[in-house]
This record gives sequence, structure tokens and C-alpha cells, in this order.
Amino acid sequence: MADFDAVWLNAKLATMTDNGSPYGAIEQGALAVKDGLIAYAGPQADLPPFDSLVTPLYDVQGQWLLPGLIDCHTHLLYAGNRANEFELRLQGASYQQIAAAGGGIASTVRATRDASEEALFKLGKDRLNALLREGVTTVEIKSGYGLDLASEQKLLEVAALLEQHHPASIIKTFLGAHALPPEFKDNADGYIEAVCQMLPTLQQLGLVDAVDIFCEGIGFSVAQSRKVFAAATALGLPVKAHAEQLSNLGGSALVAEFGGLSADHVEYLDEAGVAAMAKAGTVAVLLPGAYYFLRETQLPPLALLRQYQVPMAVASDLNPGTSPFCSLQLMLNMACTLFRLTPEEALLGVTRHAATALGLKDRGQLQAGMRADFGCYAITQPAELCYQFGVAPLKQLVIAGSLCRL
Ligand code: NIG
Ligand code: FE
Repeated sequence: MADFDAVWLNAKLATMTDNGSPYGAIEQGALAVKDGLIAYAGPQADLPPFDSLVTPLYDVQGQWLLPGLIDCHTHLLYAGNRANEFELRLQGASYQQIAAAGGGIASTVRATRDASEEALFKLGKDRLNALLREGVTTVEIKSGYGLDLASEQKLLEVAALLEQHHPASIIKTFLGAHALPPEFKDNADGYIEAVCQMLPTLQQLGLVDAVDIFCEGIGFSVAQSRKVFAAATALGLPVKAHAEQLSNLGGSALVAEFGGLSADHVEYLDEAGVAAMAKAGTVAVLLPGAYYFLRETQLPPLALLRQYQVPMAVASDLNPGTSPFCSLQLMLNMACTLFRLTPEEALLGVTRHAATALGLKDRGQLQAGMRADFGCYAITQPAELCYQFGVAPLKQLVIAGSLCRL
């Protein structure tokens, strides 16, 4: 007899595995958990015999189980907001003009430097809880609103605290090269040097899982990004970039050159960049919230990404400037409506491909041996998660085998 910690019966499984059917679906399925891992996910008819008198059973009566959702790109730790800049943009100012006038990322840096760890922890926890209630079980959190060693460390330490005190898994990304801080005005190269020097210190504190940069006209050049990537690679840290968001500088090809995890935004990505990403196995992270909020008109090169079979992830980009949306479900809808992803592509983008974008091999699919992170939804088909917004179809959430309070 199999020894399970708990079993879910009469479930429809969207395994998101490559099993030949859309969503990797198994219509008459069962799922069993042991020691925080999935011990069985497959047809109920093939579920190994177990002792049903002592094993907790959940009869979900035809509801759908999906892997825990993964938000692989967020700037979730920030203080203040940028509603004033929203008003300015409605009057005609552009995101780039506001940044050039000392607003934009710099204004959130001021507010975030002034905020205490406690205040940031509270803000972060509330935002994580909102994501959790949609079924999100893994969240990437970037620094990048500190821009000096002490403030970047503060942000990453709060992320680490959230990791300890919140059921969701947290991946910590160092984004020191997000914008030029006032201390380094007109000295971007000097700041890049400083960023490279922050890296070993932060890594030794156990605060860095990956390194990100903002490669853009209003961010950093390819040459400067290359320096940060070289420093990260020398320390064995994986890299990724905000690339080709507002123009085509070649940041995505640079990520690919370093065998990086993902190039994110990629609206202005060209065919050479797509080909480089395909060759390197770099994921394209699509951020429809930022596309929508900035009223971008340049669509990511979706046909090319499909043609070259570059895995596409979808994330919230939660941040106060370009995507003030604390919802991955809204992004599913926007990815389909604005980018014309199929619901299956969008859901793969917040499960299997989002896991790849974070370098995580132990989650993103319902499969024996993976972490037992999954949600149970009162929906009639997986596409419903992309189709509607504002209802809360999540009925149960399990993280590492334990039921979460919703
Ligand atoms: O992903 N592009 C750079 N970073 C963020 C925006 C940050 C901000 O405006 O505060 C983004 O769009
Ligand atoms: Fe971002």
C-alpha cells in the first residue's frame, strides 16, 4: 500500500506537462502528496492503493487543479506610489520625459530609501497575500529602488524576511543597475563599478539568487550591462535583463550570450535577438501590464518567438511606475487580449515557463517528484482563468504539501 500524506480525488488536472493534450489535462484525475512533494498525479483509475481510513481525503467534485502559479518578475518591495505621474502622463508627458525630469524610478527610490524595514515588510506582505489569494505560490522580488549598498541590502533583507514569514516561495533578484542614483549623476560608469562591488557583499549575505539590469536608453548601455553580467557570472549567479522595452539595444542577445535565464519586456526584440535566445534557452518574459499602462503600441515579436520556440512566460511586473497591478490573473487576461496568446500559452507562461525563467526545475507542473504546490479552482475549464477577472475561483491552495489559509 502506498503511504500518502493526503489525496485529492475526482479532480480535473491541468498538469501543464507535455502529455499531448491541451494544458496537459487529465479529466478523471487524482493527486497524492507525500513529504511536501507530489507523489502521484494522473488518472484516478491508476492511483496506487492506499489506506483511505487514515489518509486525509479531499473530494473536489470535478474542480480543476493547477500547479501553483509563479510570478517570475515583480518589483514588489517599494514605498509610495506614482499616481501623480499617472496624472502627468494623462496630460501628455511620456514615461521617458518624467524620468528625465527626476521623476520615475528616482522618485520611488526616494520614498523607498526613507521607508523602514517594518513598513516595507508590511507592504510586501499585503501584496504577497493578494497574489496568494489568486493561487500564486512562487514570487520573484527584485531590489532596485535602493541604488546604494545599504538600501539595496535593506530591500533584499526584507525579501528574505518575507521568505521566512510567508508561505510563498521568494526568489531574490539584485537589480542594482535599475537607474542612476543622484550620488552618481553623470557618472553611469562609476555607478556600474559600484554595482559590481555591491554584488559579492550581498551574495555573501545570502541575499542574491539572480542578477538583473535595465538595459535601455534611460537605463544602462549594453557595454555597462555586460560589466554587471561578467561580475555576476564570475560569482556563479544567473543573469537576466529588462531588455528591448522601449527600444532595441540588443540587451536580450546579451542575456543569451551569458546563457541567462530570461529577457523581459522584449517589445522591440528583433529576429537576431529571438534566434540568440532560442539557442541559449533564454525565456522571453512578457509583461502585458507595463505594455498596457504605458500605452505601448509595439507588440513583442510573438510570431518569431513561436517560430523559434522560445518559451514565453507571463508576469505582473508589479511596480509603481509601469505596472501597478498586484494580480497575475489580470495579466493572464491581458496576455490573451493584448498579445493574443492562447489561454494555454498564457497559463504555461505562469507555470512551466515561469519556473524555467527562474531556473527552478522542481515546480510549475503537476508531476510526481515536483513540489506539492497547487491550487484547486471552481472553474469549468482552464481558459476561464484567462477569460474573467474579479471573481475568486480559487478554493484551496496547497504549498509544499500544506493547505494554506486563504
Ligand atoms: O519593469 N523598466 C524598468 N523597470 C520597471 C519600471 C520601474 C518603475 O518605473 O518604477 C519595469 O517597467
Ligand atoms: Fe520590471
